[in-house]
Amino acid sequence: MKKSKLMLLLIFANLIFSPEILALIDEVKRRLYSTEKSICLRRDLDARFDSPQAAVKLNITPLKEKHTEKLFDLEWQNQNLPALKDVINRLNLYHAHIGTCYTAVDETDEPCYMQWLIGPRENHKLREIYQDGILQLRADEMLLEGAFTRAAFRGKGIMAEAMSHIAQDGKNLGARWAITFVKEDNIPSLKGCRKAGFEPYMLKYTQWKFFKSTSRYEVLPGSRV
Ligand SMILES: CC(C)(COP(=O)(O)OP(=O)(O)OC[C@H]1O[C@@H](n2cnc3c(N)ncnc32)[C@H](O)[C@@H]1OP(=O)(O)O)[C@@H](O)C(=O)NCCC(=O)NCCS
Repeated sequence: MKKSKLMLLLIFANLIFSPEILALIDEVKRRLYSTEKSICLRRDLDARFDSPQAAVKLNITPLKEKHTEKLFDLEWQNQNLPALKDVINRLNLYHAHIGTCYTAVDETDEPCYMQWLIGPRENHKLREIYQDGILQLRADEMLLEGAFTRAAFRGKGIMAEAMSHIAQDGKNLGARWAITFVKEDNIPSLKGCRKAGFEPYMLKYTQWKFFKSTSRYEVLPGSRV
């Protein structure tokens, strides 16, 4: 094969297999036909809970603009597909100006963690972002969404401590329950939620068929509705 043709082929292959195109193909496949199972976990904010401490001293505050670049790592070439989808989801939340986005920074002001706390007054924004893919919050509920620990800080208990404190802020805003959704195979997140005081409450099944999704919820035996 001529060198110029080979170059063209390489450029084409690079384009086709770029993370952006792969993410798009994966999303189309998902929306054409798939079934997903997530676990809804919740914490009773009226019950006493001692937040666990991370291995790093954390300062948890609403997100500051100067930390966004590191938290939304847009070096897409360095990302695998799930990480890329995760950035896109968090960017959607960020641009929707929904709820309060919290950040945990370490003692050197390095951002480690981010997560949104969203209340029922923003149900309309949740619908805009996720359509029918998310439950509408009840008056006494707050949703925690978009948990993310930067790769270099994982496994230090940062999610557990930060999520626990962020949920507590939901109580200060008048909520009784903090809820969150985690895909059934996201073991780090399920473990982090449990350490932050959250217990499985419902199962959520989402069925995608030809770009339309329907979700159904099953309250787990023993959980109070
Ligand atoms: C989920 C996530 C936020 C956890 O953050 P973290 O700060 O590392 O959480 P923690 O340190 O509290 O660790 C949670 C648990 O998961 C474990 N864990 C970490 N990586 C793991 C892996 N790849 N497989 C299994 N367990 C893992 C930790 O060891 C810890 O368990 P332990 O208490 O038994 O030691 C982080 O992995 C992340 O950002 N993932 C990508 C985005 C994501 O999935 N967000 C959640 C959306 S619901």
